[in-house]
Parts: sequence; structure tokens; C-alpha cells
Amino acid sequence: HNHIERATPGKVMAAIEAGEFEPHLPDRQSFLEYQAQGGYRTLRLLRAAGDWEDVQEQIVQAGLRGLGGAGFPAGRKWGFVRSNPGPRYVAVNGDEGEPGTFKDRHHLEREPHMFLEGMLISAWAIEAERCYLYMRDEYPAVREILRQEIAALEAAGLVKKGYIEMRRGAGAYICGEESAMIESIEGKRGIPRHRPPYVAQVGLFGQPTLVNNVETLYWVARIARFGPEVLNGVEHNGRTGLRSYSVSGRVARPGVYLLPAGSTITDIITAAGGIAEGHVFKAFQPGGPSSGILPATLSDVPLDFDTLQAHGTFIGSAAVVVLSDEDSIRDAALNMLRFFEDESCGQCTPCRVGCEKAVKLMQAEKWDRALLEELSEVMVDASICGLGQAAPNPIRLVMKHFPEEV
Ligand code: NAI
Ligand code: SF4
Repeated sequence: HNHIERATPGKVMAAIEAGEFEPHLPDRQSFLEYQAQGGYRTLRLLRAAGDWEDVQEQIVQAGLRGLGGAGFPAGRKWGFVRSNPGPRYVAVNGDEGEPGTFKDRHHLEREPHMFLEGMLISAWAIEAERCYLYMRDEYPAVREILRQEIAALEAAGLVKKGYIEMRRGAGAYICGEESAMIESIEGKRGIPRHRPPYVAQVGLFGQPTLVNNVETLYWVARIARFGPEVLNGVEHNGRTGLRSYSVSGRVARPGVYLLPAGSTITDIITAAGGIAEGHVFKAFQPGGPSSGILPATLSDVPLDFDTLQAHGTFIGSAAVVVLSDEDSIRDAALNMLRFFEDESCGQCTPCRVGCEKAVKLMQAEKWDRALLEELSEVMVDASICGLGQAAPNPIRLVMKHFPEEV
């Protein structure tokens, strides 16, 4: 399995398509098992006599926010999309490209139908013509699971053949940006569009489009079936809800941990079996490289949406990477900027040239802090999309919290 994930995606797919090997498929809840436990009952009831505004109200009450990382209130999107004339589409972001993030994969490998039902409830709510499912190419097992389970849905008559169309990403981080993803689904080069107009107004093929991340839709199904209490009934450190933290780095048991949204880094490390043997906790990436690096001293801050604003960053996709005394923080930050330099789509100068210049400046023995700060400001202010706007976060946070390293 690891071998598949590490190889070049194109080669892997060619090998799978040529029948040279099949991806290992983890045990997951099948269509029949899901249905036997009450699955798809909600969808059938809603399609027969449901009111989309009632379900939207439940989602609002639950406090569900966009779990791709932006945290936009999920309940508001249906109304935005519906207020525009159809045809309308659902486009699911399964590109999960943020380094350290593997929660969508975790949920899809275990309960693919909880996600599929959430997608179909959303499609019902906005009266979608069709659903497009954009899946990360590096997850061949997930794509095969979805192929089989979508076929089961079609065979059971829950969707018409072709109503759900799966598209493969091609390993480009930027295609996880929603408008670049839409360009890619349309068959074009994946580069972000200017916003506004938002995709809720002008999305796929110029039509109103509901874009949601995989896990957001997973929770839509849970809320519609079990009520808003599945999220708003959980409280911790003054926050409500649950968060799927992808935890890796210097911990004893890396993995995905479903914990209260108010969890601190201490709670998360404890859930992951503590710090790896022989290491001393030094720093952490709270939510992907775009969230930068924070020091171990911020151990009592709840890692939830909005709570990191005061510290100049955000929780994003909750991709927590734990760093220890064995790690060089400046090297980690440089690695992040190299990633952004590689993945920048190149469309706008502040990001394309800014990432390249930042990498050069960060290779100096002593950082030119004033120049790096000036460069960061330009990138934040003038880049078109989140990639260029967030790329300076590792630079700024390392200068603030680890000045002795740079
Ligand atoms: P955003 O805040 O601009 O938008 C979030 C969503 O809300 C979008 O769907 C947008 O269309 C919608 N929206 C915002 N304002 C709206 C309005 N006035 N009317 C209608 N719709 C509106 O954030 P963005 O750029 O989509 O996402 C950035 C986040 O993505 C970052 O926080 C980062 O953590 C995360 N990310 C996640 C990755 C992953 O693999 N899960 C990869 C890379 C980044
Ligand atoms: Fe492309 Fe970077 Fe500009 Fe985004 S900020 S549009 S990734 S060049």
C-alpha cells in the first residue's frame, strides 16, 4: 500500500488500469451494512417529503463549518446556491493535498456511505443536476472503494447511472483550491479564478455550484440522521463540536483522532500516545504548512477555527505535525516554502516570484528579517488565492517564535 502511495500517481494508475496490481482495499462498511444500520433512510424520507430549510437549520444549529480548512459556515451554502437559477451542481473536493492531512482518506476508507449519503442529501437540497467528485490521484484505494460503492448505489436505484461522476486529480496541490478544481473538472489547466463571483453563483460550467470538502458532507449525513447534538452536544474548553485531527511527526501513534474541537496540542499528543520515545516536544504545525509553525509553549490554546487568529494563524484542515528537539525549525519552514514554490500555479507574480525569493532568502545563514517581512506583506496583500496569501505564515511565525534559529 505504501509502495502505491509513494510512486508517481500516473504510473500507479497506468499499472492499475493495465491490471498489473490492484490497490489493497481496507475493510469498509459496505452498502448493505450501511443500509442495515439505517443508512439512506434519511435520504429516502427527505426525497419523499422533506423540507431543505429544516435540514439546513439543523446544520446551522449543529455549528458545522467547512472542514476543508476554511471553516465557512456550512449551513449557509445551500441557501446561497439555491438563490441562483439552475442547473446547479455539487462538486466535492476530495483532493486533500495539504501536507499532513489524511482525515478524508480515513473516513472514506471506513464509512464511504456516510459521505455519499451526505453528498446526496446536499444534492437533493440544492436540486443538483449532477455531482462531480474530484478525488486525489494518490488515493487509488479510495477511488476503487468509491467506484464500487457508487455502482452499488446505482444498482439499488438510489441514483441514476452517471449522476455521480468521479474525476481524478493529477497530483497538483493547487487543484484543491475550489475554483482551480472547477477549472480542472471542466478539462482546463487548474488555476484559481478571481473571487467574487463565488462558485455558489458562477461555478462549474458557469452554473451555481455547491463545493464542499468530503468530511463536511460526512457530517451533513450524521446531522441529518442523528440531529445537531452529534456536534453541538460536545463541549470542551468553551468550544463545541468535534474535529478530525490528522496527527503525525514525533508522536508515538500517528493517525486520525476524532476529538473535541476545543482540544489543545497537549490533548492531541496525549491521544496520539504521547511524544515519541527519546524526543522532547518543541513545536507543531497546527493545520498544514499554510498555518506555519507554533512553539510548544502554546500548549493550552484550543485548536479550533478562529482560536489561533490572535497568534497570527489558523487551524485549517487540522493537520497537526509534531516537531521535537531533533528537528530544525528553520529547515521545516524552508521545506514548507519549497513546497509552495513547487506548487504555485505561477499565475500571479507576488506568489510565483515571492515563493522563489523567499526560498533563496531562507537559505542564508542569517535571515534578512526586514526583507522577508516586506516580501511577506506583498505576498499576503497581492496574491490571488490562499496559496500565496498563506505561504508567508511559516516565515513570520518562525521569525516571531524561533528568532535564535534564523
Ligand atoms: P475561503 O474562506 O475563501 O472560502 C471558503 C468557502 O466559502 C468557499 O467555498 C467559498 O466559495 C465560500 N465563500 C466564502 N465567502 C463567500 C460568500 N460571500 N458567498 C458565497 N460563498 C462564500 O477559503 P478557501 O480559499 O476556499 O480555503 C482556504 C483553506 O483551505 C485554508 O484555510 C487551508 O487550511 C485549506 N486548505 C486545505 C487543504 C486540504 O487538503 N484540505 C489544502 C489546501 C488548503
Ligand atoms: Fe497561483 Fe499562487 Fe497566484 Fe494562487 S497565489 S493564483 S497559486 S500564483
